[in-house]
Amino acid sequence: MSDKIPGFSTLAIHAGAAPDPATGARATPIYQTTSFVFDDVDHAASLFGLQAFGNIYTRITNPTTAVLEERVAALEGGTAALATASGHSAQLLCFHSMMQPGDNIVAANKLYGGSINQLNHSFKSFGWNVKWADPADLSTFEAAIDDRTRAIFIESLANPGGIVVDIEAIAALAKAKGVPLVVDNTMATPYLCRPIEHGADIVLHSLTKFMGGHGNSMGGIIVDGGSFDWSASGNYPLLSQPRPEYQGVVLHETFGNFAFAIACRVLGLRDLGPAISPFNSFMILTGIETLPLRMQRHSDNAKKVALHLSAHDKVNWVSYAALPEDKHHALQQKYMPKGAGAVFTFGVEGGYEAGVNLVSKVELFSHLANIGDTRSLIIHPASTTHRQLTDEQKTIAGAGPDVVRLSVGLEEVDDIIADLDQALTG
Ligand SMILES: Cc1ncc(COP(=O)(O)O)c(C=O)c1O
Repeated sequence: MSDKIPGFSTLAIHAGAAPDPATGARATPIYQTTSFVFDDVDHAASLFGLQAFGNIYTRITNPTTAVLEERVAALEGGTAALATASGHSAQLLCFHSMMQPGDNIVAANKLYGGSINQLNHSFKSFGWNVKWADPADLSTFEAAIDDRTRAIFIESLANPGGIVVDIEAIAALAKAKGVPLVVDNTMATPYLCRPIEHGADIVLHSLTKFMGGHGNSMGGIIVDGGSFDWSASGNYPLLSQPRPEYQGVVLHETFGNFAFAIACRVLGLRDLGPAISPFNSFMILTGIETLPLRMQRHSDNAKKVALHLSAHDKVNWVSYAALPEDKHHALQQKYMPKGAGAVFTFGVEGGYEAGVNLVSKVELFSHLANIGDTRSLIIHPASTTHRQLTDEQKTIAGAGPDVVRLSVGLEEVDDIIADLDQALTG
C-alpha cells in the first residue's frame, strides 16, 4: 500500500473492511449472532474488565457493526464511532454520557421536529433541560449558555428549511465556554460537509437517511472527534471519575481521544440498549459505498428542481442554499461547496389547503415522513411532522402553513419536475 491517504470515495468503499478472515468473503458478512465464545476464562475476564477489546454480546459490539463504525469515523475524520438503532437513540446515548439531572443543552431552534420534541419533552423527564438559541444570531447562544450547560447542539444543514449553520463561529464559542459542540450532520453527510474539520467535537447521524440512502434500514451513529477535554472542568463525571462497574477505570484517562465513544458504548449502549441489528449495519454499509455518487446527484437534481420552482407562478418562495440569491448561499459555499443536498422547502400559493392538495396530487413523489431515499419524497410539515408544535414553534422551525418539503431523489430530473408541475396546476 502507498502512504497516500485514501480519498473520500475510496474510504466510502474500503474503510474498516477487509476480506473475512475465516472465509475470504469480500463483502462484509452479516454476523447474525447474539453472542461470541470466549477463548478461555482469562480472555472473558479481560473483556468484561475493559482490559481487552473484543466481542461479548451484540448489544455492545458486533463485527458487522464494527465495520460500519470504522467507516463512518473515517469519513467524518473522527477517532471512533458508535452505531445505534436509530438517529434518535444516537442523540439519547450521546447526551446520556454528558448530562446529569439539572444540566442543560443549548440547542439551535432550527432542528428536525422530532429532535425538538425529544429535547422539549422526553429529555426533560431525565432532568435534562434545553435552552433554545437562533443559529442566525450567535449572541443568542452566548446568552443561553450558563454554568449548567454541558453541550451545544446544532444541525449543519437544518431540517426542514435547508438552513446552513455557521459551524466555525459556534465552535469558537463552545471552545471559549468549555462545552462540546455536537453537530447532527444527517442532511449534509460527510460527502458535503465534515463538521469536525470546522471545530465540532461530536458528530451525530440518522443513518436511516442519506448514509443508508435507500429508505430501507434504521440506524444512527455517534462519531467522536477526539478533540474535547472531558477532564478539564469536572463537569463530565461519567468520563472523568472512576467507574465502579469497571473496577475504578477512569474512561478519559484510559481511552484518551476516543473515550467519548467508549463511554457511549460501555455505559449508554450497555445499559439503555438501543443496539443496531447486524442486518441493518450491512444494509447501511452497502449504501455508504455509493454515498459520493448519490449525494452529488441528489444535490444536482435538487438544484435544478429549486431553480424551476423559483420561476413557478404557483410558488411564492424557495428556500435552498444552493440558489445564489438565498440568504444561506455564502455559508453553503463555505461549508458545503459541492452542493446543498436533496432537501429544501418552498411556499405554495394558497397556504395550508394548497399544501395538502399538492401532496395528494403527486404521482412520482411519495407522500411520507422521511428524507434521503433514492425516490423523491414530499411532505407538508404543518399537517404531519410538525403538527404537535404550536403555531409559533412551527413558524420558528420553518414549518409554517404554506411550507412544503421535498427530498429530491435520484430519478431523471425532468420526470421529477413534470410531476410537480402537474400536481401544482392540477
Ligand atoms: C436531521 C435528523 N436528525 C435525526 C433524526 C432522527 O433519526 P431516526 O429517525 O433515525 O431516529 C432525523 C429523522 O428524520 C433527522 O432528519
